[in-house]
Amino acid sequence: MAREDSMVNCDLAAARDMSVVNVGLLGFGVVGSSVAELLDENRENIERRAGSRVKIKRILVRDLERYRLKYPERRDLFTCDPEDIIGDPEITVIIELMGGLEPASNYITRALRKGKRVVTANKEVMSVDGERVFRAAEEGNTEVYFEGSVGGGIPIIKPLKQSLAANRITEIKGILNGTSNYILSNMSLEGLEFDECLRKAQSLGYAEADPTADISGLDSARKLAILASIGFGARFTPRDVFCEGIDGVAKEDIIYGKEFGWTLKLIGLARLDGDAVELRVHPTFLPDTAPLASISGVTNAVSVKGHAVGEVMFSGPGAGGMATASAVISDLIEVVRDQLAGINNLGCTCYRSLKVKPSEDICTEYYIRLEVHDKPGVMAQVAGVMGTNNISLRWVLQKRNIGENAEIVFVTHRAREGNLRTALSEIKKLPSLVRIGNVIRVENG
Ligand SMILES: NC(=O)c1ccc[n+]([C@@H]2O[C@H](COP(=O)([O-])OP(=O)(O)OC[C@H]3O[C@@H](n4cnc5c(N)ncnc54)[C@H](OP(=O)(O)O)[C@@H]3O)[C@@H](O)[C@H]2O)c1
Repeated sequence: MAREDSMVNCDLAAARDMSVVNVGLLGFGVVGSSVAELLDENRENIERRAGSRVKIKRILVRDLERYRLKYPERRDLFTCDPEDIIGDPEITVIIELMGGLEPASNYITRALRKGKRVVTANKEVMSVDGERVFRAAEEGNTEVYFEGSVGGGIPIIKPLKQSLAANRITEIKGILNGTSNYILSNMSLEGLEFDECLRKAQSLGYAEADPTADISGLDSARKLAILASIGFGARFTPRDVFCEGIDGVAKEDIIYGKEFGWTLKLIGLARLDGDAVELRVHPTFLPDTAPLASISGVTNAVSVKGHAVGEVMFSGPGAGGMATASAVISDLIEVVRDQLAGINNLGCTCYRSLKVKPSEDICTEYYIRLEVHDKPGVMAQVAGVMGTNNISLRWVLQKRNIGENAEIVFVTHRAREGNLRTALSEIKKLPSLVRIGNVIRVENG
């Protein structure tokens, strides 16, 4: 290399050494504090890859005194005025880790309109308010990055947006909530009821004091809406997702599932069918041999089918401070690189509109557990109702009695959900029925 060239390179290196990207953190809880810790711990590597020094300039919290007492050496960093961050022209990157829809969505969009780059792990904002967020990014000619919003530490947003971009995505299927997966795995492993496993999950810190969003399937629906929007290039929100939680699952269902060679999981499924997309989250029996069946405990996993690549699967820790910080910092590195390279608004990946398939038109197999009066002819009555509704039965199993009643499990061939609903409403009217124990969809494909 000529001497002049080498000097130029040294000068550039020196200039690069001196450049600092100022970051504002919104939130310093589980993930926010882990981001700061990970940045300190692995600073040299992170800054080398980013191509610049990175400095956390201010941190927004609600309870200022609590944080100042807890982190006396960082006390001046904390503020409870969002304007100290969003209004600071030296801060070019905002990392939002507060959680919740508002005021997070408001702060994110304000920052984007000012031209700041935003990193967030907020699935609620990205799934519910995604359109507003991307519009604000366009107005500010800037970009929003959200790897941490789905699957915690698992890289899935970037692979879907970039690595698999050559593919026509046909299906995204996953275990998107660690709390539910822990509960179902524990019910299966220990033979316990749902409530006992929920309490255990709470005592171990795997479930929140209010676990509603996790066990109702809403958390998974938010994540599925984000993944489907990227995968299929059309905007979906959690409202588009047919959603059922795991709180109705009984230990008997898991025991019967084992008889059939199945494992029960809370599955989020997005499937392209012509110009419509099937979007659903519900407890699902999978064959024991299915790759997702082996994902246990708090682990998350997402399988993606693309016409060119076939099926690929991503799995790992779906939550946790450090795991999510890993995803957030990968975004931070990309942000800084984009900023240095002058890459601005790349635009939203949603470029078309697709219909959502009505839930009555879903076709799958069904497991139906009934408690009936233990009399002759009951099975024939139920089978008759199924037959008149175009549902054919694959298996019938009667294994135990509950007092004077019998418990019968029916497994259907593939049937239309609308037909099944009609059949169930007719079965409810049969005098021999005591109660419908549970109905669970089976994905055998
Ligand atoms: N935890 C995980 O494993 C995980 C995994 C994936 C994604 N995420 C996402 O990451 C985000 C952060 O989660 P987290 O678990 O770190 O939450 P967290 O522990 O509850 O921390 C939230 C932080 O934000 C601050 N904050 C909340 N509302 C605020 C407001 N209105 N004004 C100012 N500060 C406010 C809180 O301050 P105060 O303490 O003063 O209230 C706290 O410092 C969420 O969007 C979550 O969904 C979390």
